[in-house]
Amino acid sequence: MRTILVLNAKGGSGKTTVATNLAGFYASEGAKVALVDHDPQGSSLDWLSVRPKDRPKIAAVDGASDKRIRVPRSTDVVIMDAPSRTHDEQLAALVRRAQTIVLPVVPSPIDIRAAQRFLRELRELRNLVDTDVKLTTVANRVREGSQIANELEDYLFELKLPSGRKFPFITMLRQSTNYIRSAEKGLSIFEFAPVQTAGDREYWSPLTRWLQSPRSLPERRPTVS
Ligand SMILES: Nc1ncnc2c1ncn2[C@@H]1O[C@H](COP(=O)(O)OP(=O)(O)OP(=O)(O)O)[C@@H](O)[C@H]1O
Ligand SMILES: [Mg+2]
Repeated sequence: MRTILVLNAKGGSGKTTVATNLAGFYASEGAKVALVDHDPQGSSLDWLSVRPKDRPKIAAVDGASDKRIRVPRSTDVVIMDAPSRTHDEQLAALVRRAQTIVLPVVPSPIDIRAAQRFLRELRELRNLVDTDVKLTTVANRVREGSQIANELEDYLFELKLPSGRKFPFITMLRQSTNYIRSAEKGLSIFEFAPVQTAGDREYWSPLTRWLQSPRSLPERRPTVS
């Protein structure tokens, strides 16, 4: 079973947008998907509640109030939507369940700095929980076409963590009304007419390709304690 956690301590960075669109991506590829909403706000569950019945079904799992989280037996892919301000034990519990973490970041200087700190926290925690979870970041809400977008991409590819390691970065998602429509209709951008969302899909492809490659999987099995 593939397990992907969408995480960032910062509120409004795009966790639910990325989680729901990833769920829709895998569902539209024919996978059996469970979307686990760990956020008491329940935005991912809201998205599922408006999802049209004629679309591939995605199992809704309330990870915020259910003590024991169960996904249907036949699930191929589990997408977990984390709440903001997740730290310490709650963070450790989520990280333990994941093979891969996707961290959406709004690429403002303040949010990038906060993400760098959060990545340090995660690294310390990864040693602590002894997992080999793989991680990448996605710059979200990038205004396309601007000179800034090009410079930003170069900057993010070159960015370093305070430890000197490379800031993990895979792609940018643009600021687009398609995501507002996607939230409204319970559909992912992969389920709209291609002419409508082709531009956005292109930006997703480095992420979806990485997620479907062994590079995004732990080399060791996660240790469950
Ligand atoms: N790329 C984008 N283009 C346009 N709107 C976006 C984009 N990404 C996110 N949004 C909008 O920004 C708002 C916040 O996004 P989202 O809910 O995904 O963030 P979040 O990290 O899950 O927030 P929270 O921390 O509250 O759970 C939502 O209204 C969402 O529709
Ligand atoms: Mg959210």
